[in-house]
Amino acid sequence: MLTPTIETSEAGTETPRLEIKGVGRDFHTKAGVTHAVSGIDLTIQRGEFVALIGRSGCGKTTLLRMIGGLLAPTAGTIEVDGKSLWRENNHVDSSAITKLGFVFQESNLFPWFSVLDNIALPLKLRGVGKKERRARAADLADLVGLSGFERSYPRELSGGMRQRAAIARALSTEPELLLMDEPFGALDALTRERMNLELQRIVLETTSTVVFVTHDIPEAVFLADRVVHMTPRPGRIRQILPADFPKPRAVDLQTTPEFNDIVRSLRHDLDEEE
Ligand SMILES: Nc1ncnc2c1ncn2[C@@H]1O[C@H](COP(=O)(O)OP(=O)(O)OP(=O)(O)O)[C@@H](O)[C@H]1O
Ligand SMILES: [Mg+2]
Repeated sequence: MLTPTIETSEAGTETPRLEIKGVGRDFHTKAGVTHAVSGIDLTIQRGEFVALIGRSGCGKTTLLRMIGGLLAPTAGTIEVDGKSLWRENNHVDSSAITKLGFVFQESNLFPWFSVLDNIALPLKLRGVGKKERRARAADLADLVGLSGFERSYPRELSGGMRQRAAIARALSTEPELLLMDEPFGALDALTRERMNLELQRIVLETTSTVVFVTHDIPEAVFLADRVVHMTPRPGRIRQILPADFPKPRAVDLQTTPEFNDIVRSLRHDLDEEE
C-alpha cells in the first residue's frame, strides 16, 4: 500500500508543492481589457488532488496555463516547491517546468508517431537514449491499459485510448505536478468512469500532485481531495470544498449520502450564478 504523501505535508513539515498568491491575469484585446482571473490564493500540498470547477469562461484554463508555465500572470506569484515559477520579463524557471506534466482537453498526439513514440517523445526531448525511453514508454502504455497498441497510430485508436496515451505521455517524465484540463470532456459516460478509476490508480501509484479541470461535479468530488469552485468576471475562487473520502475510491461511493451532499451543495451554488 502506498502512503499518501499528503500526510506528511498536513503535519506542516514540507514546502507545499504549489503556492499561488494573489495571481491575476488580464488580457488586452481590441475590444478592451478582460480580467480573466483575479486575486487567486491557493496552496496545494504534495500528493494532493485538486479539482477546479466553474462556469465556462471563469478562468480555469487561464489559471492552469499560468501554473503550467505557458502563460505569464499579470499579478501575483506562483511557487513550485518554494521556488518562483515566473521570473523577470515573463521568463519561466526551466527547472520548475521539468517537474510538470500537462494533459490538454484534446489529446494532441502527433499523428505520424506511433503510440509508443508519442509517449516517449518528452523523454527523447530530454535526451534519454532510445532503448531506455522505449522501455519506459512500454511500461507506461501498460500502466494506462494500452498494452498491445504500442505500434498503433493515433487515428487507429478510440478517443478514450488517445486520451490515455496522452496521459501516459504526460506521465513519462514522472511529473511531480500533473495539470489536466478537462481531459475526459469528450468521452462517453462509461469510458469516463473507467478513466476516472484508472487516473486514480495511476496517481496513487506515482504519488503525483494533480490539478484537474472539469465541468462534471460528481467527477470532481469523486477524484479530488478538495474541489475549488471558481466564479467568472473576473475569475475568482468562490469556495473550496473538502472531499475527504478514503482512497482508493470505488464507483459506489457516488451512491452514498455524504458524496451526494457535496455534489448537491456545489450544484446549488453553481446554479445560483445564473
Ligand atoms: N488569449 C486570450 N486572449 C484574450 N482573452 C482571453 C484569452 N484567453 C482567455 N481569455 C478570456 O479569459 C476568460 C477566461 O477564459 P478561460 O479559457 O480561462 O475560461 P475557462 O474557465 O477555461 O472556460 P471553459 O470552461 O469554457 O474552458 C474568458 O473571458 C476568455 O475570453
Ligand atoms: Mg477552459
